[in-house]
Amino acid sequence: MARPITHFIEYGGITLPGLVHNEASVRYAHQVFQVRDSDVFNLTYPKSGTTWMQEILTLIHNNGDPTQSQSVPSWERVPWIEQKTAAEFLENRPSPRLISSHLPLSLFPESFFTSQAKVIYTVRDPRDVCVSLYYYAKMSSFLEYRENFGEFIELFTAGKILFGSWFDHVKAWLTYKDQTNFLLLTYDELLKDLRGSVLHICQFLEKDLDASAVNSVVENASFEMMKGNKMVNYSLISEDIMNHKISPFLRKGISGDWKNHFTLEQSDAFRQLYQEKMKDVGIKFPWDELQSEIHQEFGEGNDNAAFPLS
Ligand code: A3P
Repeated sequence: MARPITHFIEYGGITLPGLVHNEASVRYAHQVFQVRDSDVFNLTYPKSGTTWMQEILTLIHNNGDPTQSQSVPSWERVPWIEQKTAAEFLENRPSPRLISSHLPLSLFPESFFTSQAKVIYTVRDPRDVCVSLYYYAKMSSFLEYRENFGEFIELFTAGKILFGSWFDHVKAWLTYKDQTNFLLLTYDELLKDLRGSVLHICQFLEKDLDASAVNSVVENASFEMMKGNKMVNYSLISEDIMNHKISPFLRKGISGDWKNHFTLEQSDAFRQLYQEKMKDVGIKFPWDELQSEIHQEFGEGNDNAAFPLS
């Protein structure tokens, strides 16, 4: 079946899908939107765990009660400020508002920078982001897609699909990592210890949940529960926009799936690009270790000694 024509907009040097954004909506987010001190932002580069954090934040906000998670779509509970529906969803909403965004630092609401609003920034291994985005682009009619994975990697590294380059996004936001209103998390740590991550988030938000409430957050934010919850699995969206028969939105929910997709050559090229782009960041991410694993697996020895973040 032929894919419908994809429509994009350009704003502030980044590309966004025209289905849910327009120039006015991004300008509204950037220049008009009034951030409140009590706002909580779920900030990510796409495919890094946005939906997962929408679920976690909703559940924490409701002290573990899943009623809202199971009755209101995630994009209404924790809406994106850059999308066309932002004003409708957010302007009259009582505090504290839970808000999502994929915006780069340069386009984030100007009023945020004089506020005490909190940001949770979730980062994922860019190779897994690329794989997740590949399947997302395949199942959706509003993103640029290339069947050939090598070509898709090129699209991804050029930042030509959505929200600009992963490297630019992450590097700019990491300059905020030491601010007290900024919590840096990785997709990997959510996977490894969801309960510990939920407690960490509660502490950051100064939310005191009892043990049964925390248990309920963990249970309801699990991959399996979310996959079965139509308010978060995107099955409410029509098939001509997202076709879950091609690939489900909640696809695998694992770390390291890139190893099933990147060839050794592609992995090497990506590592070189990563080293170059990330050399001044000075943070050690969990996927730094995976880098050496693949080289051991491929029998090349560990040439990761000079990896700048280790
Ligand atoms: P995969 O495609 O690798 O499975 P986003 O919400 O930013 O678009 O990210 C989507 C990715 O997060 C998908 O990755 C999805 O499966 C994963 N995800 C969503 N909820 C999850 C959960 N509860 N546990 C693990 N992964 C989850």
